[in-house]
Amino acid sequence: MLAIDPATKLSFNRLISNGDLVIVYERHDNLKAVTVSESTVLQNRFGVFKHSEWIGKPFGSKVFSNKGGFVYLLAPTPELWTLVLSHRTQILYIADISFVIMYLEVVPGCLVLESGTGSGSLTTSLARAVAPTGHVHTFDFHEQRAGSARDDFERTGLSSLISVRVRDIQGEGFPSEFAGLADAVFLDLPQPWLAIPSAAEMLKQDGTLCSFSPCVEQVQRSCETLQNSFTDIRTFEVLLRTYEVREGKMENLNGDNNGSNGSLPCKRRQRSNGSYAPDSIVSSVMARPCGEARGHTDYLTFARLK
Ligand SMILES: C[S@@+](CC[C@H](N)C(=O)[O-])C[C@H]1O[C@@H](n2cnc3c(N)ncnc32)[C@H](O)[C@@H]1O
Repeated sequence: MLAIDPATKLSFNRLISNGDLVIVYERHDNLKAVTVSESTVLQNRFGVFKHSEWIGKPFGSKVFSNKGGFVYLLAPTPELWTLVLSHRTQILYIADISFVIMYLEVVPGCLVLESGTGSGSLTTSLARAVAPTGHVHTFDFHEQRAGSARDDFERTGLSSLISVRVRDIQGEGFPSEFAGLADAVFLDLPQPWLAIPSAAEMLKQDGTLCSFSPCVEQVQRSCETLQNSFTDIRTFEVLLRTYEVREGKMENLNGDNNGSNGSLPCKRRQRSNGSYAPDSIVSSVMARPCGEARGHTDYLTFARLK
């Protein structure tokens, strides 16, 4: 996923090779992770796409099927991976992820502890944020889930930045080898208050913690525990409003031809005398709130070690 060159530069400037992971983009709500294999084809409603024709093209290329249909081959960034990964659990999405990374102050070189790993959605972004010199240690008590996450990090090329371990963090806490070393701790656990005392022991002075919980009762209980060793305790709910942008046709009811109705410039049917026909059908780029937008996801509680 992250092409890390020795000069610590992250880039996708190189061309697509056999064995690369690419994100096949049909449209914003239809993406798929595909590993390029010379002898394989991708088949979808647009026809058959030969992988061999993808090799040597730059990431971002538009490629065509035997029927003239097309898809784009995008570089596998954490943002796109979050949209295509296999959901073995509930996951964090882009709005929460970006807020978490910013608020936890995760930067290259940081050591981050996380539990649970779940589907690895957040872990993938944490890994990019700490790259190339930092590390994410993530823990899940579900052995199979931890194994699948490990496989995913291998596939996305992030395994050198992430260690996955099986451990009951609520019961045992984080391993003592990290005591006083973590820059940030992230918890996505059903009873985070049980893991908070251990998280406090792991953090460097001034280190940051975030706990992600769906219910306000969990938040209240976590905050009570946080008060023992943390300061600057703050809870947020990140609400995202998505707009769908598309070209569409609509009726021009007032026949206005100078844009005084506040509409965006658009093509309109013009009469032979140059005037505009009232009630004409005009084509315009429109943006409207997306019907499938999610409301509440979870509450994010942040705190800083005293
Ligand atoms: C909602 S998922 C985490 C999703 C993850 N944040 C993501 O973005 O993909 C919660 C995970 O916590 C794990 N978990 C629950 N209790 C745990 C415990 N006591 N110790 C470690 N992991 C635990 C579950 O197995 C599950 O995989």
